[in-house]
Amino acid sequence: MIFDTTLRDGEQTPGVSFTPEEKLRIARQLARLGVDVIEAGFPAASPGDLEAVRRIALEVEGPTICALARAKEADIRAAWGAVRYAERPRIHVFIATSDIHLRHKLRLSRDEVLKRAREMVAYAGSLCPDVEFSPEDASRTDPAFLHEVLEAVIDAGAATVNIPDTVGYAIPSEFAALIRGIVEVVPNIDRAVISVHCHDDLGLAVANSLAAVAAGARQVECTVNGLGERAGNAALEEVVMALEVRRDLFGLGTGINTREIVRTSRLVSSISGISVPPNKAIVGDNAFAHESGVHQDGVLKERSTYEIIDPKTVGFTRSELVLGKLSGRHAVREKLREMGYELSDEELERVFARFKELADLKEVSEADLEAIVADELFRPAEIYKLEQVQVVCGDKGIPTATVALRAPDGEVLIDSNHGTGPVDAVYRAINRIVGEEPRLIAFSIKAITGGLDAIGEVSITVESPEVRGENGRPRIFSGQGASTDIVVASAKAYLNALNKLLAAKGGQ
Ligand code: KIV
Ligand code: ZN
Repeated sequence: MIFDTTLRDGEQTPGVSFTPEEKLRIARQLARLGVDVIEAGFPAASPGDLEAVRRIALEVEGPTICALARAKEADIRAAWGAVRYAERPRIHVFIATSDIHLRHKLRLSRDEVLKRAREMVAYAGSLCPDVEFSPEDASRTDPAFLHEVLEAVIDAGAATVNIPDTVGYAIPSEFAALIRGIVEVVPNIDRAVISVHCHDDLGLAVANSLAAVAAGARQVECTVNGLGERAGNAALEEVVMALEVRRDLFGLGTGINTREIVRTSRLVSSISGISVPPNKAIVGDNAFAHESGVHQDGVLKERSTYEIIDPKTVGFTRSELVLGKLSGRHAVREKLREMGYELSDEELERVFARFKELADLKEVSEADLEAIVADELFRPAEIYKLEQVQVVCGDKGIPTATVALRAPDGEVLIDSNHGTGPVDAVYRAINRIVGEEPRLIAFSIKAITGGLDAIGEVSITVESPEVRGENGRPRIFSGQGASTDIVVASAKAYLNALNKLLAAKGGQ
């Protein structure tokens, strides 16, 4: 079983924060991908997270919808309040079990932790039919105590026991032995599914997860693109494809529709603002690129000489032309339907107009269409709308930008500014109009398809000291924009983030 925690542990990636709409969009794609469980969030952490989990529970069909809770009644109530609307709800209760955590963080004895784990699993079970339990920092926990805790929580009703390598400390052989020990020693383990949750601090998250599967684990917790706390979690696409490609060795499969992997990866990368390195396994741009002449010759003669996966299996169709300038509305609607988008007539008109503009310039691929849909349909309620951008730049002049924005009352506001480059000048001009000066944390630009006529997709994240989260730290807002003109894409992305910031400021 594939338990996806992109929306919970993945959101703990430094610099990443999802709005409820973004979480919903990712959850819908995860359902299309075929994950078994979506860990949608940690409802006790904030009202925003509770609301996002509730909406996913209400609107996303297929996977089990899970919410995380500390071993505390209030957390469990919040988790239940959010997931209770799901077809298949799950509450995931956790408490640390290693002596390091007990002594320094929880300041509880082993007996107190054991009692709390048992009681809180029973409490969660009184509300929700499906309860998962995690002994946090399991890989650094005394195995004898770990076994005792697992036996107690299974008796209390936990149907899944998840073994986290919370700090990414384990080595595959050692982690496999830990799982084997659980299988052999915990007397009631046959009443629960063993799950694993590995972090990548030593670059071993996927290796540890696979070693655990070979030792008897049947649920793997992972994230798209390996997002997650610190160095991240086990990457879903790598775990799934390793099981798929080496089915001969594992004799196991997943319910994942592998053809949706690349699309899911791109969506998460675009919304999170965390780009995928080109050499990333399975989903990186170079994952199937053959550079050496000897390799190219081999692949041309027989693909399997240097390729263990057909790129189409994971959904790489980027080079394939899907539509041209003669394609009509019907063809575009059908292609979008095939890609999983059911558009209203009004939405189709907007996407079709953008498609026509692009089709006049180039052949339009599926990835281009995906970028247009994202840019046209998934922008949050716009407070300021981009009307026009114009820049003057070059190696001798002063980069200068003039921007026109439509304000909420319909008035068009125009201002200009200069900067270190055209994008900086555009951002400064927008700041003057809107009266905000957020700090830019990250900026990345990616060509959606190859070639000079490609659509450029810009992802940025900004923060403002004036808008703080529950933890008192400035909240992070991400924005995306797409256009064949990278300055326009940059302006759209910035305005997208700024509109979210202004909405949050208004709601404060
Ligand atoms: O890494 C970890 O231990 C976790 C738990 C909450 C499962 O994320
Ligand atoms: Zn984790």
